[in-house]
Amino acid sequence: MSAFVYRHGVLHAEACAVPDLVRQFGTPLYVYSKQALVEQYQRYQDALGDYDGHICYAVKANSNLRVLAVLAEAGAGFDIVSGGELERVLRAGGKADRIVFSGVGKQKDEIARALAVGIHCFNVESYPELELINAVASELRLVAPVSLRVNPNVDAGTHPYISTGLKANKFGVPIEQADAFYARAADLAHINVVGVDCHIGSQLTDIAPLAESLDSVLALVDRLAEQGIQLRHVDMGGGLGISYQDHETAPDIEGYIDFLKQRLASRGLALVLEPGRSIVGDAGIFVTEVALLKEGEEKNFAVVDGAMNDLLRPALYGAWQRVQPVVPRTEPDAGELKHWDIVGPICETGDFLAKDRALNLQPKDLLAVMQSGAYGFVMASNYNTRPRAAEVMVDGDKVHLVRRRETLDDLLALEEGLH
Ligand code: LLP
Repeated sequence: MSAFVYRHGVLHAEACAVPDLVRQFGTPLYVYSKQALVEQYQRYQDALGDYDGHICYAVKANSNLRVLAVLAEAGAGFDIVSGGELERVLRAGGKADRIVFSGVGKQKDEIARALAVGIHCFNVESYPELELINAVASELRLVAPVSLRVNPNVDAGTHPYISTGLKANKFGVPIEQADAFYARAADLAHINVVGVDCHIGSQLTDIAPLAESLDSVLALVDRLAEQGIQLRHVDMGGGLGISYQDHETAPDIEGYIDFLKQRLASRGLALVLEPGRSIVGDAGIFVTEVALLKEGEEKNFAVVDGAMNDLLRPALYGAWQRVQPVVPRTEPDAGELKHWDIVGPICETGDFLAKDRALNLQPKDLLAVMQSGAYGFVMASNYNTRPRAAEVMVDGDKVHLVRRRETLDDLLALEEGLH
């Protein structure tokens, strides 16, 4: 059930009325629901059941410390892509031995730190990277657990910018080269090959490409077993989509995991998954206030106080997210339904949150951009010297400020150069 529903004509986050949150914390504002977050994580965990494996939440989707702490407390593992994400997870109470480290460009110091704290495994994306990990592990007199990220050359059927499993993408090692890769890895003294992984893209609404990838991955696992290289786990990455628009249906998490377990069980393989969006996407909204209305001959613009620096997905991918009035206008002051482009104050034509939405709007109205929990705040910037928004998490009728709004002093504090 959605945590964001209307009660008495007012949008609520769990038991908190959104206008009350705005009075307390201002706009633009990210609002997360603890209940939605935990429920969605729990679906993954329950579907995995006592099958050997880990649900490693992809930190990049939303790396707020409180979000991580809530998930760590619920028992999640984590998929990280940087030393920074590693420290976040550790500070949030995540267990090192449930961390997988993905990414094409891991740095020496990041590898060393991950080895020192004892992560579950490195998802290796190239041979030079494997050699670097081997060298760092050797210096530390440790053995690095690794999994090879293979690229199955499957079209995930999603936006090109978030499609990662094609030959033309920078990620992973082409699956045809994987056998040779594993053979070489077996000769490296400080490498222990434990698994194989792939991640073919994000916001997949159909699991067919994932099933196709799994077939290639399992064929590889079988070939390696014949050569005496026994893998312990298969990591299928993340990628399950959510419903941004009515015609997009989120794949059934339970059905997907059941399918994976069935395929892996006969080979005695553990299962690792790296879901991000499907855990946190529905658990957050972005609230912004209409600053002014600018009606034109061709277009009507609602200029709001949130912008592409706060929520980049529409500008970057042309992503469509629902926009709902926090307090829908009713008679007698409903006004006229008009079509609006919801735009921010940034000096770019690409600065929009939504286009052509039918809404009854007045200045000072609050709008909620739905499904903003994933790839929202984490992709925010300070472009146009805009302090980043505050983030709050509601838990029933309680609200916690989980990141205070940035101030101009925060922004300028790191800069020097005045005489
Ligand atoms: N594992 C790896 C190796 C990944 O690269 C990603 C996402 C995930 C897991 C998590 O995927 P998810 O379950 O969230 O689909 N900023 C884009 C999405 C970028 C996804 C990057 N990788 C967006 O806003 O749509």
